[in-house]
Amino acid sequence: MAKPKQAYSCTACGAQSGKWNGQCGDCGAWNTLEEIVVSITSNNNPRSARFQGYAGKPSVQSLTEVSPEQQTRFSIGISELDRVLGGGVVPGSVILIGGDPGIGKSTILQQALAQLGKTLKPLYITGEESLQQVSMRAHRLGLEGTDIRLLSETCVEKIIETAQIEKPQVLVVDSIQTIFTDMLQSAPGSVAQVRESAAQLVRFAKQTGTVLFLVGHVTKEGALAGPRVLEHMVDTVLYFEGDASSPYRVIRAVKNRFGAVNELGVFAMTEKGLREVSNPSAIFLSRHEEDVPGSVVMVTREGSRPMLVEVQALVAESHTSNPRRVALGVDAQRLSMLLALLDRHGGIAMYDYDVFVNIVGGMRISETGADLSVILSILSSFKDKSFPKDWIVFGEVGLAGEIRPVQNGQERLREAAKHGFVRAIIPKANAPKQKIEGIEVQAVSRLSEVLDFI
Ligand code: TYD
Ligand code: MG
Repeated sequence: MAKPKQAYSCTACGAQSGKWNGQCGDCGAWNTLEEIVVSITSNNNPRSARFQGYAGKPSVQSLTEVSPEQQTRFSIGISELDRVLGGGVVPGSVILIGGDPGIGKSTILQQALAQLGKTLKPLYITGEESLQQVSMRAHRLGLEGTDIRLLSETCVEKIIETAQIEKPQVLVVDSIQTIFTDMLQSAPGSVAQVRESAAQLVRFAKQTGTVLFLVGHVTKEGALAGPRVLEHMVDTVLYFEGDASSPYRVIRAVKNRFGAVNELGVFAMTEKGLREVSNPSAIFLSRHEEDVPGSVVMVTREGSRPMLVEVQALVAESHTSNPRRVALGVDAQRLSMLLALLDRHGGIAMYDYDVFVNIVGGMRISETGADLSVILSILSSFKDKSFPKDWIVFGEVGLAGEIRPVQNGQERLREAAKHGFVRAIIPKANAPKQKIEGIEVQAVSRLSEVLDFI
């Protein structure tokens, strides 16, 4: 027999909640909550009851009266996705998932809905693919047994009308660029259409406590269509990153009202959908057999995990008056700055060389802790001398040529030691007080010191 669950029901309005409160969150009446017993198997689903609190009329409360844990979270059951979301989805929250076409947005959402569908009622709106295509994907993912309500529709008014009848608790709109509103004349995909359709959907989600996932394609310039507009309207922005040629996919939270930003979830695209990679620290290394010039491994820390990534550089003589600077996975402005630093503090000028820098595996590094490894990879390629493949590097380089510390230096060193790296060139301020087993530390405080040492 299923274990009976405790729940409370308001005698005035009938709303249910998971715990006792002095005031009904729904109708605002005082002392009206009474305990009721519900079992999970009954039709009276306590999970749906929890949502009702969010649909209540606005009532002003004193901050001290509001208890923080009133926010229920529903874990998706795909732990890498839960991790980027900050532990699961919050009713009434709006999540934007952006990424290149074909990277796996529809796939991950279909997998997430299949899991979430066990607790919450899902509705999947497809504006891009036919229902047959969605069904084909479900078969491919081995999800043909799970029921998801589907609708192929692009008019936002019709979508909301349907949602009002269907009353889903999770609504997926794939993709927002195909959705239009009758109120505007412009074509679907235009900024006005995207903004207005999204606004209507967000309003619906907030009023009804529905979890809303919006899929957004990234334009060629790398921004979401109607980019900033959508980002500030939603609670959470997740970006899919990854190289089309590699099976690995990274989902990064760039904004999250319900969790930490810059958290990463790592997946591998397989024949049967996206599989979680729960220990991703070394997947982005190419693991050369021997040392190769232009390749330096660094330990970055994305979200709450250290990760080993390989920075590659190619320096080639330029035959144009305007040598090329190409940065893939690192900031292009930062690359120019580092080249200037190398010139000023190392006396190595690159004005008649093309410089290409790439992070292996389509990863993107946003932290400045990559500076030193970028400089060393450029130097290594320039001199055509390989950097030892069992050494790692991290550290920020300041304009005065000083090496600045990064956060969680020790944790990074331990991760590197775990993967068999024997030597680390790191900022002086990050040098551990006690020796870390297996790794020898070379602490540096100035760029010139590093160049001399190398
Ligand atoms: P999709 O989720 O449709 O991308 P998006 O919605 O971001 O445009 O993913 C499509 C790609 O993923 C396509 O190239 C096929 C590949 N794929 C797999 O490799 N394995 C699978 O199980 C599935 C469903 C897709
Ligand atoms: Mg898609």
